[in-house]
Amino acid sequence: MSPETATPMSAVVKSTPTRDRPAPRHLRLSDIDLNCWYVVANDREVTGQPLGVELWGRAIVLYRDSQGQVQAMEDCCPHRLVKLSDGRVVGDRIECMYHGWQFDGDGACVDVPYLSEQQKLPTCRIRTYPVRELDGFIWLWPGEVAAGQTLPEPMGLPEWEHLNYIASMTTIDYRGHFSFLIENLMDMYHGHLHQDYQAWASAKLEQLTETPERVDALYEAQSYYRIDKIWSVAQLFVPAMRKLHPEPLLVSYVYPHWASSLGQDFKIYCLFCPVSPTRTRAYLVHFTSLQAFWRLHKLPVGFRRWVKDRMFNAARKLLEGLVEQDVLMMEQEQRSFEADPDRKGPELNQTIAAVQRLIRSRGQQ
Ligand code: FES
Ligand SMILES: [Fe+2]
Repeated sequence: MSPETATPMSAVVKSTPTRDRPAPRHLRLSDIDLNCWYVVANDREVTGQPLGVELWGRAIVLYRDSQGQVQAMEDCCPHRLVKLSDGRVVGDRIECMYHGWQFDGDGACVDVPYLSEQQKLPTCRIRTYPVRELDGFIWLWPGEVAAGQTLPEPMGLPEWEHLNYIASMTTIDYRGHFSFLIENLMDMYHGHLHQDYQAWASAKLEQLTETPERVDALYEAQSYYRIDKIWSVAQLFVPAMRKLHPEPLLVSYVYPHWASSLGQDFKIYCLFCPVSPTRTRAYLVHFTSLQAFWRLHKLPVGFRRWVKDRMFNAARKLLEGLVEQDVLMMEQEQRSFEADPDRKGPELNQTIAAVQRLIRSRGQQ
């Protein structure tokens, strides 16, 4: 949906509602839909050393083989059920720390150092997961995959490689159910918490669209964010320099991830890794556009790449400030839920109600 498709508030649309299934026991205990791509690491975290990660209670080990390809498998040696991530990578294989058994990228045991001539290699096989390296992140599919099944492509971040976009990134790690984070991201009315940090204010809902795959909420907001002169970057840090102007603000829950744009110059994504029902990790990635600097676009690609790389993470501190404030609230929400799961406050935000319907619906897939 593009910002141009905005209609007045009176024309709020809901298409293909997702509430025809029985409700789960509690929203804050909702399962995830395993048949999706989740982001389990950024590409710099995965090296020739095994990396243990967790996705919805599943321990997974990631490593790069001799070709630099990322492999993902259950982080459990089938011999004595210890963590493979404590072992090491040998060529294309991962080797368990305990007795040195080695496994190939298909999870098959291919070497036991003390195998006698009369013995055969054990036929045990470790579960492997489909994994893709795309736009700076490692995307993993935790669901079952039938033989011959073609998986869809991960959502990806089109701006990641684009020379006109400068990226900044931080991680979000908190003790709480993933629903608190997606609600927080889709909630355009908590600017009170962020005060000077937030790039928009006075968001008015223009259009809300709901399908079994996503929720899109389009707002008209007031923003100071316009990067068309070198000095305009200073507005981000000096509130006195800011001048508000109206901009379309589009926020989308593209299950299980989040994408948003404010006008032409500002985009943010949040890539989810729900670690467990009470722990969530996510990657928040912000892009500032250099689209307005047309002279820059005429310079050699190598120089533009250098500028993009040099400016990487310029807004990281701002992101970290926002995340710290949000985490404080979300962890309190989780604690309150655990203290009294039946206690519920009034909800006035129809976008949040749509988000909750999607979480419930996908959690029952
Ligand atoms: S426990 Fe892994 S090789 Fe023995
Ligand atoms: Fe926030």
